[in-house]
Amino acid sequence: MMPLATWLAGYIRDVPDHPYPGVLFKDYASLLADPRAFTALVDALADVCRHREATMVVGLEARGFLLGAPVAVRSGLGLAVIRKSGKLPGRAFRRVYELEYGTDEFELQCDALRPKDRVVVVDDVLATGGTALAAASLVSEAGADVVGVAFMLELVALSGRRRLARDLDGVPVDAVINA
Ligand code: PRP
Ligand code: MG
Repeated sequence: MMPLATWLAGYIRDVPDHPYPGVLFKDYASLLADPRAFTALVDALADVCRHREATMVVGLEARGFLLGAPVAVRSGLGLAVIRKSGKLPGRAFRRVYELEYGTDEFELQCDALRPKDRVVVVDDVLATGGTALAAASLVSEAGADVVGVAFMLELVALSGRRRLARDLDGVPVDAVINA
């Protein structure tokens, strides 16, 4: 039988120069559209949550929501969301972060997590790691523990894993697919 990563990688289509020149966009619409592939991906990410003994999943706007929500349900865990700034009501912690193209700002509601929570951060793609680092630092500021960071896809050439290893102090990083 084909390994899971090889099978799922077959659903990802490279789109050069999207959304900006020089950026290679990974289009995985056909993976989400196939219930067997989507379920297998969610199950693999839910396995990470189980191994890390997570108590909460954090999903990152926007594309991290596509995975974080089903992973939380599959894991029997709650979901907290980190959103782009200006969307969440009430008090929120805030982080500006750099992307491959420009900067963005994330927020997490101050009461979204409990101090004892063991959080797995779920996102679709690990590129430079800036997004995941900003998310992890918001979770820490909220007083919870980041016990794992889990991605559908790691873009190995961009060395995000090395940056996360350095800045997240040994928090395990998992990616279902490498490209
Ligand atoms: C994309 C992707 C990851 C992030 C990875 O999000 O969904 O969240 O880039 O990049 P990094 O590892 O270099 O930080 P993006 O902000 O482009 O948009 P989205 O709102 O569609 O998720
Ligand atoms: Mg994103």
